[in-house]
Amino acid sequence: MKALSFLLTLVAGISALPNPLPQDPAPTPGVVAPPALPLSTSSRWILDASNKRVKLRCLNWAGHLETNIPEGLHRQSLDYITTWIASQNFNCVRLTFSSDLTFSGPTTPVHSSFTTVSQQQSKPALIDEIYPGIVSKNPWITPNTTTLDVFAKVVDTLWSKGVMTILDNHVSKASWCCNLTDGNGWWDTASGYNPFNSRFFHTDQWLQSLAFMASWAKSHRGVVGLGLRNELRAFLLQDLNGRKDWYANIQTAGNLVHSTNKDLLILVGGAQSSTDLVHLKSRMLDTSGWRGKNVWEMHAYSFTVTFPDPFKNCDLVKTGYGFWSGFVLEQNKAYTGPLIMSEFGVGMQGSDINGQFEGLDEKDHRYLDCLVGYLKGNDAEWAVWAIQGSYYIREGTVDYDETWGLMDREWKGWRNDKFRQKIQGLYAVTQGP
Ligand SMILES: *[C@@H]1O[C@H](CO)[C@@H](O)[C@H](O)[C@H]1NC(C)=O
Ligand SMILES: *[C@@H]1O[C@H](CO)[C@@H](O)[C@H](O)[C@H]1NC(C)=O
Repeated sequence: MKALSFLLTLVAGISALPNPLPQDPAPTPGVVAPPALPLSTSSRWILDASNKRVKLRCLNWAGHLETNIPEGLHRQSLDYITTWIASQNFNCVRLTFSSDLTFSGPTTPVHSSFTTVSQQQSKPALIDEIYPGIVSKNPWITPNTTTLDVFAKVVDTLWSKGVMTILDNHVSKASWCCNLTDGNGWWDTASGYNPFNSRFFHTDQWLQSLAFMASWAKSHRGVVGLGLRNELRAFLLQDLNGRKDWYANIQTAGNLVHSTNKDLLILVGGAQSSTDLVHLKSRMLDTSGWRGKNVWEMHAYSFTVTFPDPFKNCDLVKTGYGFWSGFVLEQNKAYTGPLIMSEFGVGMQGSDINGQFEGLDEKDHRYLDCLVGYLKGNDAEWAVWAIQGSYYIREGTVDYDETWGLMDREWKGWRNDKFRQKIQGLYAVTQGP
């Protein structure tokens, strides 16, 4: 009980921040006001080049699966999707990529990528049906357009509408993420190697990939940040050394990215799938190599084991969020910095028949209301998971219908309007430096 009341105090302290700001002006449809770049950090805030607060209100857009192309271009034009993003007042996209992209992307045409994956997975529909959809909806993709060219066009088109991009190194081997046997979870050079969790996560290639994308971003102005790695997670005998491998590898990567591109924010997630930054309380990560650029990441889903269950007690859940990650918003600490809730979301299909839970599962409904309340209370940065209404191919299924997608299967509009309404409260800027 003693620990609990300490934590409640901590959370209350985080919420009570001064200086309310006026709300953002209403957006022009299809365009958001871009900030003056580059961005930097001060205390727990992200600032633009004129030291005004920039609040990141992002969605995730997957580009890390086998084809190494941002999803959805078989359903809608890039112009349609990016206009939709801006018209819904998102000012940023967390665009996920695999380390593979950086090795194959500059020389692999979209067509070859689809051919290869189609053959590898014995799914002729991928090349016979999905690829033609892509070139018909997006005729700018010619036989010579490489997968990295597509990333460039996505980032540049978003920025033409005022939308920033945060690149996220999501996996090493391009594939659906994340479990403890997909080989992408923890560095292969770290102590306690096991192939289940690390067979693809080659530390040297990861660093090369980060340096490559940091350099690439210099010619794609809309890229404002780079996430070092999505959902780091140890398995079996890994991470039993006081987070030694986490500190060493994150510091190397942060220094490398910053020395390659001084403009980028550097996003750092904790262990246990980006839920656990607790170790910073006793030992701060040495971020002096990228001073003024460090942003912490946190993920929270209704099934996240790190946080308390049941979701019927929202106060307890908020205490958990604060204890594991949210504490970094506390001012004047060594670890004080901006925090982006860079993944949260729910299944949009619901099972609710009488409307009591607003078209969502009861657990998801309670989770979402509690999480939105937490983020509003802290006026935190966020990135909802995820725009994609479908995938070219996911886990062997062609044209996979993503029931968690913000957009419907056709990528026309919102899949669940109740969800849209529930996150509206997150857009306002209510606090500032
Ligand atoms: C595509 O590449 C081929 C071979 O490198 C070249 O001959 C052709 O001109 C290119 N086409 C376009 C549209 O760039
Ligand atoms: C874990 O992920 C890999 C790669 O996506 C997949 O092949 C495997 O079936 C997954 N395992 C479980 C238990 O879901």
